[in-house]
Amino acid sequence: MLYGVFSDVHSNLEALGVVLEHFARSGVEAHLCLGDLVGYGPDPDACLDRVRGLKNLSVIAGNHDLAVVGHLDLDWFNQYARAAVYWTREQLSPENRRFLSGLTARLETKDFTLAHGSPRNPPEEYLLSAAQFRDNAPLVRAWPLFVGHSHMPLMFRFAAGDPAPVDIVFLGEETAVLPRTPEGGFGPAALNPGSVGQPRDQDRRASCAVFDSEAGTFRVQRLAYDVPATQAKMRAAGLPEYLALRLDYGQ
Ligand SMILES: [Fe+2]
Repeated sequence: MLYGVFSDVHSNLEALGVVLEHFARSGVEAHLCLGDLVGYGPDPDACLDRVRGLKNLSVIAGNHDLAVVGHLDLDWFNQYARAAVYWTREQLSPENRRFLSGLTARLETKDFTLAHGSPRNPPEEYLLSAAQFRDNAPLVRAWPLFVGHSHMPLMFRFAAGDPAPVDIVFLGEETAVLPRTPEGGFGPAALNPGSVGQPRDQDRRASCAVFDSEAGTFRVQRLAYDVPATQAKMRAAGLPEYLALRLDYGQ
């Protein structure tokens, strides 16, 4: 099965559009969306409409989605993120508000686990260190684990050794091969496809990935999109200028 894996759309319709075109060209059969559909960007309703229409969709909420529907308090959001949350609350259709209200930040199936940030603290923890991967691994029943939230395309896995060190691999556009168990299932690995709508790795192109569950591969793709169009809409909406500017730099 080919899965289109994406996260942190953040209401960026231009970026979402090129990602969904890539998935269609790649022949993906199912979609895994890892949360933060809204927040920061200018098109929350249109992005939700497109994602809700995807076939074979598994989707979880991120911290911004939860904050918009009042399921997470705003204390630890910075002033820019908070301003975007308040603005987004005014934009959502009743159907899209209901859709977001029904999501959780973690989802387990027999084939994989989805968590926006991490299994132990799905809406908030940024999975970025070896220690965090080691601490979260016992909470995962079905590998691979797919995460978002950090906006960085990364893979975590155990290397050979005793005790096994953790490899953290920055994912460029080469094909990453997932670890296997002796029985042929997937071994422990956490995979982050990067962010569709607000990359933070100094590459402003939209980021997403295709997971091939038969071949056991995960391939990140970077896609140019019309950044000035998104920025113009953010300015017209009165969203913070800082949020528009950072799209220029992928930061
Ligand atoms: Fe995010």
